[in-house]
Amino acid sequence: MNILILGDVVGPSGVKAVKERLPKIIEEKKVDFVIVNGENAADSGRGITKKIFEDFLKAGADVITTGNHVWDHKDAEAIASKDIKFLRPSNLPKDSPGKGEGVYKKKGKNFIVLNLMGNVFMKKCDDVFTEAKKFIEKFELGNAKANFIIVDMHGEITSEKMAMGHLFDGKATMVVGTHTHVPTSDYRIMEKGTAYQTDIGMCGDYNSVIGMNKENSVKKFLKEKDFEKNFPSEGAGTLSGLIIECDQNTGLAKKVNRLILGGSLTQ
Ligand code: FE2
Repeated sequence: MNILILGDVVGPSGVKAVKERLPKIIEEKKVDFVIVNGENAADSGRGITKKIFEDFLKAGADVITTGNHVWDHKDAEAIASKDIKFLRPSNLPKDSPGKGEGVYKKKGKNFIVLNLMGNVFMKKCDDVFTEAKKFIEKFELGNAKANFIIVDMHGEITSEKMAMGHLFDGKATMVVGTHTHVPTSDYRIMEKGTAYQTDIGMCGDYNSVIGMNKENSVKKFLKEKDFEKNFPSEGAGTLSGLIIECDQNTGLAKKVNRLILGGSLTQ
């Protein structure tokens, strides 16, 4: 089985890259299950619309994960309440709409996706490690209920994401970080068989400041008066993510490959 996860899609350039390239990648790389982090996909770079959510599913995504920007567009609460293919961080306050984990049946297997959000330099949410431990007690990787487990750990700092990777080592198929919009080079299979990458990067224009217009972002840091609210950069988008091949019986990773395609990032 091959699983692909794409990092945070940022604005129209990222959306275009996903819609144009994802169907071909699924076919060429024989991908069985696709997760896309879509929390920055709206035109403003904040949140996601119903239309974009549906477009991602049409392009081949099985699940859309999110993070701190989950509720930034008004469509999100309705999508989260109605559609299990939309996940918000599992450790949001308990009265939040929607779900943070889902079980998805495909090709006779159960794929479980868990969306978490870090606690350091992020919006206030419940303790992410307590939440992860509860999940681990509930699902055992490799049995019929949980053939594959994918964890999207949306967080700012590398140490928190690495610790989460080790907590899940041998207990999840893959643990990947999202949110920083910059792909790291530490993708690998850990000691007990879980694929890991601290951040899988963004899908969007890298000739930017984390997907946002670079001139405007620099103005903001220089504290010049005429900067506008951040808005997405519109150059060619790169697709960035991780593809893993996993063992049908154990649910663990066998091979891990980074995906960097198109735009200004070196392949
Ligand atoms: Fe984020």
